[in-house]
Amino acid sequence: MAQIAIMGYGTVGAGVYKTLTMNRDVIAKRAGEEIQVKRVLDLRDFPGDEAESKVTHDFADVLSDPEISVVVETMGGLKPAYTFTKQLLEAGKSVCTSNKELVAEHGVELRQTAREHSVNYLFEASCGGGIPIIRVLDTSLTAEEIEEVTGILNGTTNYILTSMADEGKEFDVALKEAQQKGYAELHPEADVEGWDACRKIAILSSLAYGKHIGWRFVPTEGITKVDKGDIEYAKALGCRIKLLATSRRDANGIWALVAPMMIGKENPLTAVDGVMNAIMVKGNAVGTTMYYGSGAGSLPTASAVSGDVIACVKGKDGSIRTEQSTENLALLPVDEVSRPFFVRMRGTEEYAREIFGTITHVVHLPDYKEEFGFLTEMMPEKDFKEKLDAAKGILSWYRRGKKEEEQEA
Ligand code: HSE
Repeated sequence: MAQIAIMGYGTVGAGVYKTLTMNRDVIAKRAGEEIQVKRVLDLRDFPGDEAESKVTHDFADVLSDPEISVVVETMGGLKPAYTFTKQLLEAGKSVCTSNKELVAEHGVELRQTAREHSVNYLFEASCGGGIPIIRVLDTSLTAEEIEEVTGILNGTTNYILTSMADEGKEFDVALKEAQQKGYAELHPEADVEGWDACRKIAILSSLAYGKHIGWRFVPTEGITKVDKGDIEYAKALGCRIKLLATSRRDANGIWALVAPMMIGKENPLTAVDGVMNAIMVKGNAVGTTMYYGSGAGSLPTASAVSGDVIACVKGKDGSIRTEQSTENLALLPVDEVSRPFFVRMRGTEEYAREIFGTITHVVHLPDYKEEFGFLTEMMPEKDFKEKLDAAKGILSWYRRGKKEEEQEA
């Protein structure tokens, strides 16, 4: 029998407990032995809960217990999760986590520590909740030169954008509703400002390209400025506005970006709605592959954590194997990336042509008088921004996925 501990008995931690109990028999078969939760570390007590008798408030009860071989870290945040994880790995215990803040910040280092102590640091649940993507990058796609990773990696913002598009809601109304339904937190900044998606694309890109990508270096724009009118223009162009987290290998290096983008129906991510997540990975041999599922929630996320626990119990060689240096990969500036742009502005089409050159897909909406929207030709972002700075009457703008890329996808 394998004994494990869960640190942090919140939504995901309790989900792991439930999954291990609910699927006890099949898990025992697959792990080769029964898995039992011996300790639950939390600041709180849980009277009446099935885990009540296992609760401890003392980390030493987990760290110093020689019977506990695997620890689930679902505390979230950096402190004390980082020190706890480090000490556990040094003590020869494997750690499985859903903590994307910690993985994005110290993941490469903690994997190194795990390797030095012949244990595992696994984090399948840190990106895309229940979607298997970390192992895909670490095992199935290892023959590939990865060219691009693009995903809808945040369920909260995807829910908000979907409800704005499908129900014509303004951002504030959609956010409030998401909070009422428990999809958005009371303090939603990490989601709506794009930081959560940014951490996730940094984790995925570090695996995809084999070098640490510091999430703070990824240019990140959230969805707080998206308004109902922008969504109407997108619809008129046959597009959706989606918060995309992207990294791509170009001739000169790798760039990454998190931003709301206008994508058309040629791009399968257009169809990913509500709280669902999806990730497309493009390799130079396999072409584009896509992974879809629940990016958050108690049981989907717990499923990924529990899969990691089983991998640890099954053998000591489940470690993420991709070699990564702890050195930061210097990202190329997004300013060099060429694409068409959507612009919404006041004034005349003639003036728009004077500033932006050829414009196409001009849209006038009856509800939005004295303004219009259009697409520019493909141009480097720095050139577009120069034009934008020179223009008067700009209301909003978005990056538009290139048609060729969408067709390849
Ligand atoms: N806040 C995150 C989301 C939770 O909305 O996707 C899962 O990481």
